[in-house]
Amino acid sequence: MNTFKIIKAGSNLLKNNNITSHILDSEILLSKTLKKSREEILTHLDKKISKEDILVFKNYLKRRSNNEPIAYILEEKEFWSKRFIVSKDTLIPRPDTEILVDQILKIYKEKKISILDIGTGSGCIIISLLDNLEHSNGIGIDISRNAILIAKKNAFKHNVSCKVKFLNKSLVEVINKKFDLIVSNPPYIMRKDIKNLSDDIKKHEPRMALDGGNDGLDVIKKVIYKSKDILKINGMLALEIGNEQIKKVSKVLIENNFRIKNVIKDYKNNVRCVLAIKI
Ligand SMILES: C[S@@+](CC[C@H](N)C(=O)[O-])C[C@H]1O[C@@H](n2cnc3c(N)ncnc32)[C@H](O)[C@@H]1O
Repeated sequence: MNTFKIIKAGSNLLKNNNITSHILDSEILLSKTLKKSREEILTHLDKKISKEDILVFKNYLKRRSNNEPIAYILEEKEFWSKRFIVSKDTLIPRPDTEILVDQILKIYKEKKISILDIGTGSGCIIISLLDNLEHSNGIGIDISRNAILIAKKNAFKHNVSCKVKFLNKSLVEVINKKFDLIVSNPPYIMRKDIKNLSDDIKKHEPRMALDGGNDGLDVIKKVIYKSKDILKINGMLALEIGNEQIKKVSKVLIENNFRIKNVIKDYKNNVRCVLAIKI
């Protein structure tokens, strides 16, 4: 079979399994199979594909048909112009989180700061920050041991290992240090809403990266309580939050001696991040 026919067959199979991005996914999975860029395979549509490669491709199609996200099959996701290793133990980094990184970098450009990333996952936030803040350093923590192993690999891959430590800790475990910046994209989905998420997310992304408890605010509140103790005065807490959580989160922040500095909207015009200063 040639490239054209195999992409078509793959796309049809994915379409029959209700994968909406079936053409693109078939092309991407074939390019992963052949270890060639998508552009390269699309400009050589007559090229014959070996039986061994067809078997590998079929296996990827089977995984995608079961709604496994492309990023998990490729084992990587682009975030802030860098490719991050991801696995089923890490959330797939989202474009919304890039908005948070962008705002933080505007504020701390050229500064030397210490950063704590709570719920670091793949390490995408703190690695992107430290890659751009030359003189700064930081710690990323996560309750998932396997996520921490991935974060360490990403720090090595992006040459920031000497500036960041990754610790397999829960945020409630005391950290005997004060930080200039605490950043967190905690789990913030209401438990009852998890069943309404797309199959790609609810069947494959780690539950502990999503589940924010009954009101979605369990971990967010713990991050705020902890940050109150371990942020320096005038230090900043940068939080990613869920849709319609801003009112409740602002209230908790203000009750805990924070001043709201800025709120940031996402591409759909929802408030998605809040920056607060410890007073
Ligand atoms: C929404 S994911 C964010 C991952 C990554 N920071 C990102 O933005 O792609 C939340 C992360 O918080 C971690 N987590 C959940 N509860 C935690 C806790 N109590 N202490 C530390 N990490 C926690 C999860 O394991 C998960 O990796």
